[in-house]
Amino acid sequence: MRFVDIIEKKKNGGSLTREEIHDWISGYVDGRIPDYQTSALLMAIIFRGMNEEETFYLTDEMLRSGDRIDLSGIEGLKADKHSTGGVGDKTSLVLAPLAAACGVKMAKMSGRGLGFTGGTIDKLESISGFSAELPREDFIRQVNEIGLAIAGQTGNLVPADKKLYALRDVTGTVDSIPLIASSIMSKKLAAGSDVIVLDVKYGSGAFMKTPEEAGKLAETMIRIGTMAGKKVRAVISSMVSPLGNAVGNSLEVIEAVQTLKGQGPEDLLQLCMEIGSLILQETGKAGSETEAKEMLSAALAEGSALEKLRQMVIRQGGDVRLIDDTDLFEKAPLLTQVCASEDGYLESIDALAIGNLAMRAGAGRARKEDQIDPAAGILLKKKPGDRICAGDVLAEAYHRQSLSAEWMRECKAAFVIRKEETKPVSLIHSIL
Ligand code: URA
Repeated sequence: MRFVDIIEKKKNGGSLTREEIHDWISGYVDGRIPDYQTSALLMAIIFRGMNEEETFYLTDEMLRSGDRIDLSGIEGLKADKHSTGGVGDKTSLVLAPLAAACGVKMAKMSGRGLGFTGGTIDKLESISGFSAELPREDFIRQVNEIGLAIAGQTGNLVPADKKLYALRDVTGTVDSIPLIASSIMSKKLAAGSDVIVLDVKYGSGAFMKTPEEAGKLAETMIRIGTMAGKKVRAVISSMVSPLGNAVGNSLEVIEAVQTLKGQGPEDLLQLCMEIGSLILQETGKAGSETEAKEMLSAALAEGSALEKLRQMVIRQGGDVRLIDDTDLFEKAPLLTQVCASEDGYLESIDALAIGNLAMRAGAGRARKEDQIDPAAGILLKKKPGDRICAGDVLAEAYHRQSLSAEWMRECKAAFVIRKEETKPVSLIHSIL
């Protein structure tokens, strides 16, 4: 079959066979199928979709395009968590040590960020000396010995996704549930854990704009994982407003440490408790939600979760004094306050706008080669539901270069203030 016939078939609403998907992915990775033909097929998938089998075959073919991590050297069930991304999302920094303190083996592969703020690895690298480049054997030894490691994706993991994602990014073909689900799940399956808990976000700061779309994406990913023999659960959570108060790399690490010390924001803690509870139940460490939440609360109260983070930072070369005293993190030289000009109630904070503003203040990368300023970012001083008086500080920006009047205007506009009291959107929409 000529590749153009496969494109025509999908364009006309047909279903691709495993063999056709195999020919596409293997041909695209080795260069036999050019970008322009793959772009045409991706666009046909955007409009025609893919059924369950096609989506699973696509994930599996992508998974087979590169290496897979063998975690069989780690005893017991290994767990991983994935967030579809959002603004202020430092959940992994709290959750991974928290679950490890409850006896779960957390073998976490994370990425760097493009746009908004950095990814988990960028955040961890704001701890001086911390290295996420762990050779495979060291990664396995560390998880065996302390129950926890967070490493960057190394080696030749899912090369098909690297190539496809770069093409999707520039051809308007990112927003398709089968394409997003296969992209995420191929990487999660390649990373080798037995239990995967997905935090699928919806709202302005997320790929999926509504809880219904996020639910569909989560169901698709759960189906793929189950077909691959994994235990997969999902939390559908709001990214209408940023998570927690801190947006920016070292600011988010500080907030994660405060949360592990019992002084973090309520929404972040709630999300960590929900995801942690699923991880504990699916790995068999807890028999019920109540038991799981009691174990997680005890790990926080006794300080064992914080101790796990300390151990990980030490093992991965980071300066643990920064965890013990977060005032030692380098500060951005400039601090600018953004104040309210009207009275009312804060309904929401536009997560997408805050993400972009934090990036422009130096906390994220607009292009791959850009350098992140670890100390830059935004601290939100008000949360949805709060009563606001004119003159109140809404946010503090930490930065090195001066911020434009337009930046200040956009930042103020991100705070949606109403005259009447409104009920903020609940953080957790559902659990699948
Ligand atoms: N994240 C991914 O890894 N892949 C997508 O397609 C979208 C988000």
